Formats: sequence, structure tokens, C-alpha cells
Amino acid sequence: MPSAAHIHSAALFIAQNTDAQLYPLERTLREFLNLTFADWIIARGETPAKSAVWLSIRTTHTQGTTVPRWHRDGRMFPSDHDRHIHSKYSVTLLGSPTRILVENELVTAVVQPKDNFEVMRGKYAIRLEGQPMVGVGKGEIVRFTWGRRDSPVHSEPDMDGDRVFVSVLFGSEAEVRIMIRWRDEVFVEM
Ligand SMILES: [Fe+2]
Repeated sequence: MPSAAHIHSAALFIAQNTDAQLYPLERTLREFLNLTFADWIIARGETPAKSAVWLSIRTTHTQGTTVPRWHRDGRMFPSDHDRHIHSKYSVTLLGSPTRILVENELVTAVVQPKDNFEVMRGKYAIRLEGQPMVGVGKGEIVRFTWGRRDSPVHSEPDMDGDRVFVSVLFGSEAEVRIMIRWRDEVFVEM
């Protein structure tokens, strides 16, 4: 479970980099993390003796259209608990939400797990142009499964100004430690 210290430091980071007010931000983040953690526990079917959190906050200020980079999220860590479906959760606090495609025969045929970023921005963007998207409403939390053949195909939105995007992954401490090592980051005990 994310601690009050985790939530405060995340809210502080956002407040220092945007004009959002700390208190309502902290409340929003707390609700987001509580809801998603509860969902993760249900999906996992058990509470690990030691759980850990990978929280990512992306603040961007960009103008103009962005060529979509359609992809399915791959494996985030080698799981010590592979019987269940793994997920990442996200919410866009400011700006446009993530674009998600409705899965159909064309999407399934075009998006392949081994393709790289260049192919995603090139061939995928052309072949999947105009395909129907799943509507994500303001403030809605999205759950993305990862590492599965049917994980949702998604991309960043067109960047139309300020955007604050928050995503979270939960795991056992061992799982999150591996993910952090893969990304050359440092595990912080709080
Ligand atoms: Fe992704």
C-alpha cells in the first residue's frame, strides 16, 4: 500500500512543476492509488508479504500534433506470480488522455510484439489511421494489462499544451526491485 509519505512526495513534485494546489492534488493521488491498489490486490488474489510501487509522473508542455506510437505494453518484470493478469494503471490529471484503439482484425494483424519505435511511428501510424478509439473521459482511470497478446494498443495523445500523466505499477518488492534494476533506477524504502 502506498504510504502517506509516498503520496505526499508525489503530490509535492507535481505541485512544484505545475500550478496545481497541493492539498486537492494529494487527495486525488490518494484516491487514485487506493483504488488501483485495491484492484491490483483483487486481480492478484493475495497480498504479498511486501508490496512495492512504481509510480511514474510525466509532465509535458508541447504544442502540435504527435504521430501516434501505437504499441502494446510488454513485460514489465519477470513475475513471481504469473497465474494472474498483470496491469498498469494510469490517469491523466491535466491535458488529453492516452489514445487507445478498439481491438479489431486490422489492429490485431498490424501490431506485432517485436516491432520497434520506428515501425510504430511509420507503418503502424499509416495503417491504423482513422481506426476507432476507446473513449477515455476526463479523470477516468485506465487499466492496461501488459505482456499479453491482447493488451490494449495505445499511444500518447496529440500534445496540445500542458499535460500531467500519472501511471502506477504494483508488485511484490522482489518484482519491483527487478523492474527498477532493468531501468537503472534506485529502489527507495519509505
Ligand atoms: Fe505504453
